[in-house]
Amino acid sequence: MTRHFARPVGITATGQYYPERRVTNDDLSMVMATNDEWIRTRTGIGSRHWVEKGQGASDLGVPALQMALDQRGMMADELEVIIVATVTPDTFFPATACRIQDAVGAKNAFGFDLSAACSGFLYALTSGAALVASGAYSKVAVVGVDVMSSIMNMEDRATGVLFGDGAGAVILEPVEEGLGIIDFEHRIDGSGGCILHMPAGGSRKPASHETVDAKEHFIHQSGSEVFKFAVREMAEGSRAMLDRNGFLPADLKLFVPHQANLRIMDAAAKRLELPNDRMVVNIDRYANTTAATIPTALHQAKGEGRMEKGDLVLLSAFGAGLTWGTILLRWAY
Ligand code: UT7
Repeated sequence: MTRHFARPVGITATGQYYPERRVTNDDLSMVMATNDEWIRTRTGIGSRHWVEKGQGASDLGVPALQMALDQRGMMADELEVIIVATVTPDTFFPATACRIQDAVGAKNAFGFDLSAACSGFLYALTSGAALVASGAYSKVAVVGVDVMSSIMNMEDRATGVLFGDGAGAVILEPVEEGLGIIDFEHRIDGSGGCILHMPAGGSRKPASHETVDAKEHFIHQSGSEVFKFAVREMAEGSRAMLDRNGFLPADLKLFVPHQANLRIMDAAAKRLELPNDRMVVNIDRYANTTAATIPTALHQAKGEGRMEKGDLVLLSAFGAGLTWGTILLRWAY
């Protein structure tokens, strides 16, 4: 069974923003027991960008969305919806979507935040596209943004080297027949929640001196468990998506996987029997930016002339929840 929208919806512009401060593996080796060689060979990461103290998710999301609006030649007040995928919002409430709406001047929009960790951008893309396909809306912004440095335990070298901060944004609009999102599949499995989570700070365990002392406001991860789940779901989900639409891996112009570990991405590409030059990689420069990995990778691939109107593109992500998903589309411009 395939899933498709009654009306074609596609991405019509992209934007991105990374904070200025670039942190190399060598920089990290000064503050924790790690080294460039371990990080590069085990993860593919060479550097990442981190915010300065006081900067929040909206500070990254606003310039990314503004870039997408400028690229499309669209005024902010034309936007009808802003969906922000993030697990590191400026505050629990108001939603980061509200801050971004106010800062860009999208005075005719409604919006909300969506929490699905590294799968967040794909969930938000499908949700936004469904609003356009319904006929009720025609100009929707989807922002994937995370400030992972705000929830990283710098005393834990197993997670402290993995993440970066960044934002990507896209505009979704009706597109001509044959372009845009072709098919999508999303899943959650809450039984795996404990292998990647932030234990405290929510209603179940509100912030207290004890939770701070126990470092429960940071990412807790069983790396090898997440690794196995990621390789399996990314490879099988991608393959199944192509199969059920009658495509071969060779038909793909680009494979845009979530950027969590180059070894996970390579394993998925290998199982797809995909030539290496078809996969978009930015983890080497930006690390894992959670909800921002896929929209920034799309922005960069388009900017480098790696995809044209009509090209077949496969997006695949996995993350905390557990969450995962795949979207197949034909690039619309
Ligand atoms: O989008 C979020 C989703 N998260 C992920 O996708 C993470 C998936 N998992 C992974 O990417 C990998 O499991 C890691 C990169 C987190 C870890 O790689 P690994 O190959 O699974 O290493 P490991 O955890 O088995 O650790 C191997 C060794 C250990 O030392 P011993 O016990 O063998 O002496 C670790 O203590 O590497 C050590 N180690 C490090 N050494 C230097 C762990 N982190 C580091 C480090 N620098 N940063």
